[in-house]
Amino acid sequence: MKNALAQADHAVEALRAERRDDYYPQFHLAPSAGWINDPNGLICINGVYHAFYQHHPYDENWGPMHWGHATSRDLAHWQHQPIALAPGEDDDKGGCFSGCAVDDGGVLTLIYTGHVWLGKAGDDDQVREVQCLATSEDGVHFVKHGPVLTPPDGIQHFRDPKVWREDGEWWMVVGARENGLGQARLYRSADLRDWRFDRLLGGAQAPHQGYMWECPDFFPLGEQHLLLFSPQGLTAQGYRNRNRFQSGYLLGHWRPGHDFTPTQPFCELDAGHDFYAPQTFTAADGRRLLFAWMDMWESPMPSKAHRWAGALTLPRELTLGADGAVRMNPARELTALRREHRTLIPLKLRNQRRPLAEALQELQLTLDLAGSDAERYGVAIGGAARLYVDNQAHRLVLERFSEDPGLCGCRSVALPAGERLSLRLFIDRSSLEVFVNQGEACLTSRIYPADGRRDLSLFAEGGQAQFGDMEGWQLESIWA
Ligand code: FRU
Repeated sequence: MKNALAQADHAVEALRAERRDDYYPQFHLAPSAGWINDPNGLICINGVYHAFYQHHPYDENWGPMHWGHATSRDLAHWQHQPIALAPGEDDDKGGCFSGCAVDDGGVLTLIYTGHVWLGKAGDDDQVREVQCLATSEDGVHFVKHGPVLTPPDGIQHFRDPKVWREDGEWWMVVGARENGLGQARLYRSADLRDWRFDRLLGGAQAPHQGYMWECPDFFPLGEQHLLLFSPQGLTAQGYRNRNRFQSGYLLGHWRPGHDFTPTQPFCELDAGHDFYAPQTFTAADGRRLLFAWMDMWESPMPSKAHRWAGALTLPRELTLGADGAVRMNPARELTALRREHRTLIPLKLRNQRRPLAEALQELQLTLDLAGSDAERYGVAIGGAARLYVDNQAHRLVLERFSEDPGLCGCRSVALPAGERLSLRLFIDRSSLEVFVNQGEACLTSRIYPADGRRDLSLFAEGGQAQFGDMEGWQLESIWA
């Protein structure tokens, strides 16, 4: 593996020399060059946060999957590390697919999917997927120990293990596809090596509930348990499930040794264009944190012309609201990135556009819904995107613009009840993340300002809008 790793590191370095930074994020995790997708192996161990990710170091397209690696001491500032896993000769020769990390008595242990193409590379109908183990003494270099769990007969697609410790045992949830239906399969083990099937945590009853459930995760939130997964094959319904694939959750009750009983139907976690394969982990103080891949399969990615593609969302904190609904907010550690600060006074606009003082990367504002009758009002980000209240549809809309029609269009959420709407925006070089009413809803989309302009302005069309208190910050780079 040493040789494969050294070669891969060398390849990234060579690509890095050709990277252009027009779209390269200032405060989101991204590869130093090449391709990335899912976050993997998220963990806080021995005082260090680790974020691994699906990585193709040889060019800007998906290819044989490696695990890229970055570390942080404060969850705000990050450092790239050498590539952690490369495909080998045997069980993972087609790629080291997604997986997780656990703290096994102080030893950083990775459990990931070894993928093998049995037919032609890329032929999804003939694959072998097994769960493999790797350990590290120093948190940087890993030793592979081979497969620890193989699929039952009749299952080929069997991937993305997420492991946790509970009740004196290790538990693993794995995504699978059986007879064309997606599943979340639960296993248990005393030693991380020897696993036995416990039960299905959940599964599609019909193809419209997903032919494959990727990247399952399962954890307590408040008094409930959340089964988070990324089903493939859901059909769009009105405003819902608009992306190529979805990521969302079932909420319900669970105790070790019992069935999981969801109390409500599948709900998407983020309503934007680009949010997939989220994975959670716990902070040192027990908070439930999450990163997702901030892209979508098959979407155009203009940064490929600049020798890199893919980024992760900001780290987010999950909580359960008093009303029983899941809330997602930026991790509080991110305030460490705040630099130049601006306070802006409330203002009224009538069929007007008003530039804000300068480019800001974080903006908090309130919109007075009761005091506004404009048909559309909100914030514009250069010519690349607008976030606005649509008073006719009664929705909050994120609309993006591009010369590429594949990067145009709207995502939206229903306007929550109440007279005021609070918004928190994070605007990086090629992304917009919106947190609505302290995390009641989120919209995450990649945006690619062709002219590099990301200046903010407020607007009101077809009437009057009342903008409340506004505060903004410039954010410093996360890269040490
Ligand atoms: C999700 C996914 C996983 C798989 C990985 C491969 O985006 O398809 O199911 O392990 O990406 O890169």
